[in-house]
Amino acid sequence: MSNVDIEVALRRVGREVDALMEGAIPKSVGREGRLLDAMRYAALGGGKRLRPFLVVSSAELFGVARHRALRVAAAVEIVHCYSLIHDDLPCMDDDDLRRGRPTTHVQFDEATAVLAGDALLTLAFEVISHADTHELGEVRAELVHRLALASGGLGMAGGQMIDLLGERQRLEPAEIIRMEAMKTGALIAFSCEAGAILGRAASGARTALHGYAHDLGLAYQIIDDWLDIAGDPAVVGKRLHKDAHAGKATLIGVLGIDRAREHAEMLAGQAIRHLQPFGEEAALLRAVADFVVKRTA
Ligand code: IPE
Ligand code: IPE
Ligand code: MG
Ligand code: MG
Ligand code: MG
Repeated sequence: MSNVDIEVALRRVGREVDALMEGAIPKSVGREGRLLDAMRYAALGGGKRLRPFLVVSSAELFGVARHRALRVAAAVEIVHCYSLIHDDLPCMDDDDLRRGRPTTHVQFDEATAVLAGDALLTLAFEVISHADTHELGEVRAELVHRLALASGGLGMAGGQMIDLLGERQRLEPAEIIRMEAMKTGALIAFSCEAGAILGRAASGARTALHGYAHDLGLAYQIIDDWLDIAGDPAVVGKRLHKDAHAGKATLIGVLGIDRAREHAEMLAGQAIRHLQPFGEEAALLRAVADFVVKRTA
């Protein structure tokens, strides 16, 4: 599958997941309307929707009904959008541009942005725990549990802590890899695992998807770091050249820009090899791995 096809497929999932998120965020009413507007602004303002695509594509492997997969897809994207709001705050990466528009704290104000992040995080659990996600409470509980682990102190938020500490302290290469696996890899891994949970997949299939997601998540963050240096500002939609300025610890700092890129390409190839047990059924997931290293935004 070519890059063009994968972009079409990503946009299709994007439209479906946007419709669900649109319905899930309460309409702007009353004095809290400002918060609801900020949530809407952050969640519905573009983005590649990679994580929803991973949920939907992994769920397809197990014949999961699309409307169920889309609810989980919306939940993980909502967590991701919250993480971006907080990541951009002045006390974190201090960014003023995201997805080609002013960041949420610039468009609204810092306190509103913090609250919008908080409220999106809890909204994600409201969406995923709803009976429409799966008829079995046991499956819903596992999804809630895994999403909580992926987002929390040993997952995304923990990785963000290490990322910030890395601005002031030298991190060993192994610590940088762990930080990236946590801050970015954990939600990507959950996205792939969610399809298997919804489809009540056997442990072999789960292990294969886990291996795929692990390599994909690391490749994704390496390319994110690469784009900060070598991306086209008109396409990326974020301010560039910020990581070196902030003293961020990245694999590019360890390997140099070219070898880091080669490493990401190697990881994408390795991710694809984990999909072997699924045969042709996993064509979309293979195409995503290819997209992750070729992407320009
Ligand atoms: C940016 O994520 C932050 C990282 C975890 C690398 P994305 O590159 O997926 O951002 P959007 O959702 O497409 O805007
Ligand atoms: C962000 O990593 C990871 C998150 C969990 C949000 P970055 O700080 O590199 O993401 P960008 O470059 O701002 O999108
Ligand atoms: Mg950051
Ligand atoms: Mg950032
Ligand atoms: Mg970045």
